[in-house]
Amino acid sequence: MIDAVFGYAPGKIILFGEHAVVYGQPAIAATIDRGIRVAVTRRSHDDGPILKSHGQGLPQRAKPDPDGEGPERLRKALNVLVDLCGERTRSLVFSVEGAIPAGAGLGSSAALAVAMIRGVHRFFDDKERPADLSPEALIERAFALERVFHGNPSGVDHSVIARGGCFLYRKDPSSSLGSVEPLALPRRLRLAIAIAGSHAGTATAVGALRERARRHPEHYQRVYEGIGSLAVSAKKHLEAGELGAVGELMDLNQGYLNALGVSTPAIEALCAIARERGALGAKLSGAGGGGAVLALVDDDPAPVVRAFEAAGYQAFASEIDPESQLRTDAGRADATEEST
Ligand code: PMV
Repeated sequence: MIDAVFGYAPGKIILFGEHAVVYGQPAIAATIDRGIRVAVTRRSHDDGPILKSHGQGLPQRAKPDPDGEGPERLRKALNVLVDLCGERTRSLVFSVEGAIPAGAGLGSSAALAVAMIRGVHRFFDDKERPADLSPEALIERAFALERVFHGNPSGVDHSVIARGGCFLYRKDPSSSLGSVEPLALPRRLRLAIAIAGSHAGTATAVGALRERARRHPEHYQRVYEGIGSLAVSAKKHLEAGELGAVGELMDLNQGYLNALGVSTPAIEALCAIARERGALGAKLSGAGGGGAVLALVDDDPAPVVRAFEAAGYQAFASEIDPESQLRTDAGRADATEEST
């Protein structure tokens, strides 16, 4: 029997500010009640770590084959993991179980990165090296892996996922840590989340937008600033529990995202369905071009989830609970179990 230890990390949603965050605007993101769990075991030889998938939670562009050997990007990420965590990592096997769909803007690659780093730390029971898993060390390491998956990410995904909670995030060009302000949510946020197909990848979406913006830089800049000011207002409404206003600002944010060219007919249709069913507001989350659509609801998300499904989309209910956010941070920061 092989002893396995587990590393866990939650997925995330972006409530406000995707894309604009790349250009220095604030964004609001929160971890959700689903995530990725990685079982870590050791094999007899040390030819390099391997990754095996048992679920849907691997980054779209990094899916391994059934033997655990993967495409270029995945291999590169595992090499970076060895550089970060040491040669001893070369004999490890990571078996991934994902409860968040990949390539959907729910942070699957950042969650994978954080879960693997936590798993390695736990596997070697690094009591003598506790600094290895300080929030700063975790975030820096996760950022190195995210760069392999996403090129030049703003850092919002791994920063929020490694910390757990709901934050106003700003990119800091001089540091991988970014600047984060935790939000004190007085009420839980209830969401219906639909998946409008998988997208072409965050780096592709960010690159295409940069290209479009090059032709009309001052107009795009104004849109980014408009999105940033929505995030700042939304923080106040979220902290006051004014969810009606938060929903209205989500609708506005979605309008800006449509203007930036990152929405799709399916995303717009899902937002319309959500609003017709009484959602307070709806928008895409993440890079767009597919991926997750969030609908904020006042009460039970089930009717909106059913309406999404009736239209032919994968959908689920999720919530951001201020209490469990704290537990995620404290209790699950090294969420691990022993098993045989
Ligand atoms: O990787 P996704 O789909 O969660 O998108 C991340 C958000 C972007 O703002 C589009 C990119 C970034 O690096 O912040």
